[in-house]
Amino acid sequence: MPSAVCRWRHRVRRPPAEPARRRPCMVAPMSDNKPVRPTGQLKRKRQTDMDLQYHSQPTPHAVISELLAPDIYSRLQFPDLPEAPGGRTGHDLFSCDPGWSEIMSSPGWAELASTFLSEDFMKRVIGLFADDIRSRNALLDPDAVYLEPYRESRVQLKKPVMDESRDPNALFFRFDFQATTSTGWHFAHTDHPRRVVGGILFIADAEEEGMEGGEFGLFSDLEFRDDRVCHSPKLEKVFPHRHNKGILLLNCNTAFHGPLPIRKLTGTRKWIYYSISSHRNVWRPAG
Ligand SMILES: [Fe+2]
Repeated sequence: MPSAVCRWRHRVRRPPAEPARRRPCMVAPMSDNKPVRPTGQLKRKRQTDMDLQYHSQPTPHAVISELLAPDIYSRLQFPDLPEAPGGRTGHDLFSCDPGWSEIMSSPGWAELASTFLSEDFMKRVIGLFADDIRSRNALLDPDAVYLEPYRESRVQLKKPVMDESRDPNALFFRFDFQATTSTGWHFAHTDHPRRVVGGILFIADAEEEGMEGGEFGLFSDLEFRDDRVCHSPKLEKVFPHRHNKGILLLNCNTAFHGPLPIRKLTGTRKWIYYSISSHRNVWRPAG
């Protein structure tokens, strides 16, 4: 593991008591909240049965009100990330990198991994979006997905097409530690078309990091062309960085999202990019 990873770690502060942080800040009122409960088929009692709140608008997504039980969450130590010029934000750590596995076996992260990197949870999330996947004619079959242990390399990450001969139902995870001190990083976009689901796990608090702005936004496109490009973004929902929360969204052609402009930042914007990905490009742009 690189020394930079070992030497600098920040203990994630225990989140303050609810209810001040229970509700994400919404720009638009929700009319389609659909609480989703566990189906009972899971054999192991894990955080897999966490509360996932499904929303269909402005694009199918799910809000995670609590990633981990607070006592477990308080054990997380976010690594100080080595500079990685080939990444997205300048400071990141991917599953293909030295040190990632060691962190993921440490207190708190191991519990998070036991849920978010499990086939049970993957199937639950895909099942949550199954109707949306079918209605959008995605390449995969929600009833046929399975987990394939696979770590996408930094070289493969940049490939627009990975391997179109593969079974689209063989899914793998990305679980990327990311951080930035830049205030100039914001845009509305969809993720790579091989990502079935993408999302953010919030592991920091905007107030503690001295951050104004930088929230995670969901957008609609006033000039929607079904081509996976957000031509005229209209902000629809805002999720602030708050401890122990998360948001997952189906990476379909309407999945426009991105960080809002950061007006002030004295600390570091830190988060986990989480994705359930296929080897195949499962979303097809129009035209
Ligand atoms: Fe993204």
